[in-house]
Amino acid sequence: MSQGAVAVASDHAGYPLKQALREFLAGAGIEVLDLGTDGAESVDYPDFAFALAEAVRVGRAERGVLVCGTGIGISIAANRHDWIRAALCHDTTSARLSRQHNDANVLVLGARLIGPEVAQDCLSVFLSTEYEGGRHDRRVAKLATGSGNQPR
Ligand code: RB5
Repeated sequence: MSQGAVAVASDHAGYPLKQALREFLAGAGIEVLDLGTDGAESVDYPDFAFALAEAVRVGRAERGVLVCGTGIGISIAANRHDWIRAALCHDTTSARLSRQHNDANVLVLGARLIGPEVAQDCLSVFLSTEYEGGRHDRRVAKLATGSGNQPR
């Protein structure tokens, strides 16, 4: 699995799954940086995505795991940072390909959509799969630049 610390964060809907994944990581001997939330009280998922993005930016964590109800809101929030490649995954194939093809550095999970065992399997695969590089390098590099201010 990954060598560096893994940051975890969620909103209230993702809190129970985030806690379970935190335990899984700790049990595997992986350093965990828990950025909240810390309970069932309703909170705003962008706050936790932004905290995790900042932790990755400054090197407090190498990779991250974000959880909200669907995973959608928190992945949108995370991907607003050009150094974050957050992949919303519901299965291990997506988790593997997010690493091999997209060099994803954040795994996003929807706690209301998948069970804890699938989530744990996704995380395990995410952390143990290397980026393939090669033909993917040019495309991944473009993710950080966007397309500029194009008319819509
Ligand atoms: C919270 O109710 C829910 O909207 C949030 O967890 C997430 O699913 C948003 O995308």
